[in-house]
Amino acid sequence: MIALVRSVDRYRELLGEVVREGDVVVELGCHRGAATRRILRRRPARVVAVDYGEEAREAMTRLEREHRELTFVPGDAREYETLERVLELLDEPSCDVLAVDLGGGMFPDTAFKVYYVWSVTLRPRDAVLRNAGLCEFLLRAELRERVELEGDDRGYLGELSPPGIPGRIKRRFEEFRRWRE
Ligand SMILES: C[S@@+](CC[C@H](N)C(=O)[O-])C[C@H]1O[C@@H](n2cnc3c(N)ncnc32)[C@H](O)[C@@H]1O
Repeated sequence: MIALVRSVDRYRELLGEVVREGDVVVELGCHRGAATRRILRRRPARVVAVDYGEEAREAMTRLEREHRELTFVPGDAREYETLERVLELLDEPSCDVLAVDLGGGMFPDTAFKVYYVWSVTLRPRDAVLRNAGLCEFLLRAELRERVELEGDDRGYLGELSPPGIPGRIKRRFEEFRRWRE
């Protein structure tokens, strides 16, 4: 399932419903851990939370001390090195739930790209994404051609776009670098 929301309240609430006991969760843009706390209440096996902000570092380091299953990774979700660090922390290169909140008003292209790259890599069962621009796109866009999807419900794309991390991103991650400039 891929869930898209606009408000932070709904985002936190939804994560408190979607995460199941024993899940591996990757959360991008954890800030001071309000959504992370909701996730932790669901008794996941592992939570890796990423944020590049100073405020996050302080609060998340404190939260980490209270929860052995939580690891905070200070870093930019647009950097391939951050994704690599998270992959190193996981037993398997996958997760059950991917949560992305880089700020509800964040440019939709950035929010989508971060979601897309991390989700094709980690292949989550469920993804929860918060972004106002993407909500508007979903409401305004109309599919004007019959397009079928097969296979199970899941939290990542790949049926109509190439599966896996796009080759040009893999090739020394040039695109990631360009994307930050
Ligand atoms: C609105 S806050 C997230 C709030 C959080 N979901 C909650 O429930 O409290 C957005 C966070 O995304 C972080 N952020 C934005 N862009 C980022 C990026 N490229 N990499 C890492 N963190 C990012 C910001 O530092 C900020 O802490």
